[in-house]
Amino acid sequence: MKVDVILGLQWGDEGKGKIVDVLTPKYDAISRFQGGPNAGHTLEINDFKQVLHTIPSGIFHENKVNLIGNGVVLDPTVFQKEIDSLKKHNIDLRKNLYISKKTHLILPTHKLLDAASEAAKGDTKIGSTLKGIGPTYKDKIGRDGLRIGDIFKNFEEKYKARIDAHKELLEKFFGFEYKEMLSTIEKEWFEGIEILKSFTFVDSEHLVNELINEDKSVLAEGAQGTLLDIDFGSYPFVTSSNTICAGACTGLGIAPQKIGKVFGIFKAYCTRVGMGPFPTELHDEVGQKLRDAGNEYGSTTGRPRRCGWLDLVALKYSNMINGVTELFMMKGDVLDDFETIKICTGYEIDGEVTDKFPFELNDHVKPVYVELPGWQTDLTKLTNQDEFPEEFNNYINFIEEETGLPITIASVGPNRAQTIMLDSE
Ligand code: GDP
Ligand code: IMO
Ligand code: MG
Repeated sequence: MKVDVILGLQWGDEGKGKIVDVLTPKYDAISRFQGGPNAGHTLEINDFKQVLHTIPSGIFHENKVNLIGNGVVLDPTVFQKEIDSLKKHNIDLRKNLYISKKTHLILPTHKLLDAASEAAKGDTKIGSTLKGIGPTYKDKIGRDGLRIGDIFKNFEEKYKARIDAHKELLEKFFGFEYKEMLSTIEKEWFEGIEILKSFTFVDSEHLVNELINEDKSVLAEGAQGTLLDIDFGSYPFVTSSNTICAGACTGLGIAPQKIGKVFGIFKAYCTRVGMGPFPTELHDEVGQKLRDAGNEYGSTTGRPRRCGWLDLVALKYSNMINGVTELFMMKGDVLDDFETIKICTGYEIDGEVTDKFPFELNDHVKPVYVELPGWQTDLTKLTNQDEFPEEFNNYINFIEEETGLPITIASVGPNRAQTIMLDSE
């Protein structure tokens, strides 16, 4: 058996959580491989809605392994809140959830360092989620991080050494006032550590490979999106992990030849939260219409998401980097009320049109659009591909032709049920 991977092809929030939940019945195990509580994955099942930050989106199905892999960074405070928010659903989390001993811990001071770093950057800030992601991965790469497996070995000593170093940075480098904040967040953090200790910690690389060898099916759930990848995203306005398919190998301990299908998820348009370039962004009432229709407000921070048309230059780039084998198109219904819909097929850079994603998305990059007729039909009630209006079929066909990939799922609403499997010819 191979591991299938599902990942965002844009700037995150493509609807990964929803689709992982929909696909979970086909798999034995669901695993997160990177990112942390910067992620907000929304599931809508019947009449309830749940946002997950750290826990894999397979958790609502019985008898599945849900694994938090080594590539993830975990904040015990957020974890505890997430556990609490799931209590009403009576899920046996201690039976279904496993955490890698190699998962790095987000320390209370990592969050403060995130805030201090953003404040110091002023106008050039990243617009991070302030969850401590950058500083935690910095410590990991700098070989100073604390891992879940460290909790049981000289933890106090190791924790103090890191916290003292961070305090010095906060005080001497950033001149950041932290004392009052630290005592409050530290208390919650240690409560979270106690809850964390009641879970099963595993050598997740062994677990995943054993599952594969036993012919069990594994789905790897990406967080963020390819354009936020630390290497290939719109650097420096990116997150601090490899969000791409290769991240599933390093974030779970699986070999590249063990990767099976690569599902790439995209919205039928584009959004972005935080700072950084966005060639097809709409600053006008059309952008606002997308935001309203798509309820485009961050699942983690509540910030309004920036909105714009679908960008095929970026999408093709993401397909290339990830080796995408199938596409899932989300939120088609958000475009229900548009007479015409634009799609960016090229970038004009200093008078030349290209469909190659450039080194830098600066002000010289101007999107070149084609305009397609809108379907002006309510897609949210549809249950079958046969009911699709012609214009929606054309929209799908256009993207398939441009990318050379089949779209095998069209999502037409936030609910689990509003998911249409497509025949790929
Ligand atoms: P993720 O981070 O990729 O899991 O995506 P988010 O959960 O942050 O954002 C996606 C948002 O769109 C959530 O509020 C979902 O409930 C919602 N959503 C997902 N699919 C659809 C869809 O097909 N149509 C509509 N209207 N909303 C959707
Ligand atoms: P999901 O998994 C959308 C963005 C932040 C910021 C940049 C860096 O829900 O798709 P960070 O806190 O990671 O240092 O912030 O990345 N960002 C996301 N945007 N969806 C996410 O996750 C995101 N996680 C981080 O807004 O621009
Ligand atoms: Mg999200």
